[in-house]
Amino acid sequence: MPNNNTPCTYVIFGATGNLSLTKLMPAFYHLETEGRLADDLNIVAIGRRDLTDADWQNMIVEHINKTARGGLCDVTFKKFTKRLTYFKMDINDKRKYPKLLDFIVDKGWSRNMAFYLSMSPSDFGPVVQHLGESDLLDQTQGWKRVVLEKPFGYDLDSAKALQYQLNHYLEEEQTYRIDHYLGKGMVQNIMVFRFANLLMEPLWNRNYIDHIQITHSEDRPVGSRAGYYDTSGAMRDMIQSHLLQLLALIAMEPPASMEAEALRDEKVKLLNSIRPITKKNVNAQAYRAQYGEGVIHEQAVKSYLQEEGVNEDSVTETYAALKLYIDNWRWEGVPFYLQTGKNMPKSQTLISICFKHPPQQFFKASQVKKMEPNWIVFSIQPEESIKIEMTAKQPGLEINTRQISLDASLCHAEGYTIDAYEELLLDVIKGDRSLFLRYDEVKAAWSVVDPIIQTWASNTSYIDTYPSGSWGPKDSSKLFDQPGQEWRQSAELEESLCE
Ligand code: BG6
Repeated sequence: MPNNNTPCTYVIFGATGNLSLTKLMPAFYHLETEGRLADDLNIVAIGRRDLTDADWQNMIVEHINKTARGGLCDVTFKKFTKRLTYFKMDINDKRKYPKLLDFIVDKGWSRNMAFYLSMSPSDFGPVVQHLGESDLLDQTQGWKRVVLEKPFGYDLDSAKALQYQLNHYLEEEQTYRIDHYLGKGMVQNIMVFRFANLLMEPLWNRNYIDHIQITHSEDRPVGSRAGYYDTSGAMRDMIQSHLLQLLALIAMEPPASMEAEALRDEKVKLLNSIRPITKKNVNAQAYRAQYGEGVIHEQAVKSYLQEEGVNEDSVTETYAALKLYIDNWRWEGVPFYLQTGKNMPKSQTLISICFKHPPQQFFKASQVKKMEPNWIVFSIQPEESIKIEMTAKQPGLEINTRQISLDASLCHAEGYTIDAYEELLLDVIKGDRSLFLRYDEVKAAWSVVDPIIQTWASNTSYIDTYPSGSWGPKDSSKLFDQPGQEWRQSAELEESLCE
């Protein structure tokens, strides 16, 4: 049953920023259209600019208009705007926080409060401190929850330092660390596919699986976020968080239940079983590159170094690839290949599972053109689908074979999709933390990538490049263990295999 009765005051720090305008506000609006918001749910936008409530509402209508499913509905938007208020404050001014509390109390709004920190991670500590010292986190009247956007820290040490600061004011139960990939429908479908079906479980291990690939590509550049991105890079921005979460879900053991703690226990166990990459092994297990000039969708695009906000001699990677091994009974010896890049030909996220060849060449070589392995491909986005590739006999008198794809398309790219933030904003109100990261998970993920980040940071003299609009640097294929292994860039059957 939809839970739409919980009253709540949602306070958005960094409300006039890009994430809030393009993701959070449209997500709230969609929850309104779905009837998922309680009558007593109010959204307080915090910003430094001098705006009236009407200015703020005008600002967001423009963004909601662009993304509204089925177009903007005037009646719903009118209802939605009644929930919206703007509160001007400088987040560094601690005298403003008690005023924020008075403002909410005077309005008679719910004392269940969610504080969404959509801002630079360096502000998390001070803002939580001011909230705590102004009794805004006091739970004697109503719950108080704090939502922290990624990244949580910059590396393992900074994540620990941040958590140390938060510990003074927040319980783990009040802390909602976002990884928006966990709010994506197909990401949750990984768990359903694995744990609501018996069919795959006997095959889901080192005896049958040759290797697993996780690929995320984007056909766009770093854009207006170049300033942030140049200090981050693809390893921190995508692999440490989103791709390691996908890996954890695809490879973890069945949890004791779907409760938040049981689920997160299994993810942490899996992340802690990843074989540590020693600094000596970084070159054998990781690869980085940066996009040069090129053509995407027939448009000439500039190189990373030509982007505004990027250092002229930057060696920040816009492409990162990684090979990992999981040292447990299920996965011993199975390589996991992860890659992500900006300015590639297509935006998509795929998890491709390649099975081993059958133990015997049963059919004569003349009858079967070439033995192809079975694949299961999860397309996380833009299409949402699960495809299983098998070899079958072609119709006809002889035994000639071809690859076929059993295709479960759940949602097409242009179809009705629910944005990850809708699910996550609602989960905060419900108090369901299963799709948020626990501190030990974040620590485990940093431990995986830290040696690579440190090694790369110490080598600032060279970075490989790839043309924009290509599938990345050729030399990343050096990561593969076996000659037949190569990056799979599509959920569809390769043309050559379909002949
Ligand atoms: C963000 C990264 O966390 O995820 C961005 O900071 C990246 O660089 C984005 O583009 C990808 O998310 P999605 O949902 O568009 O795949």
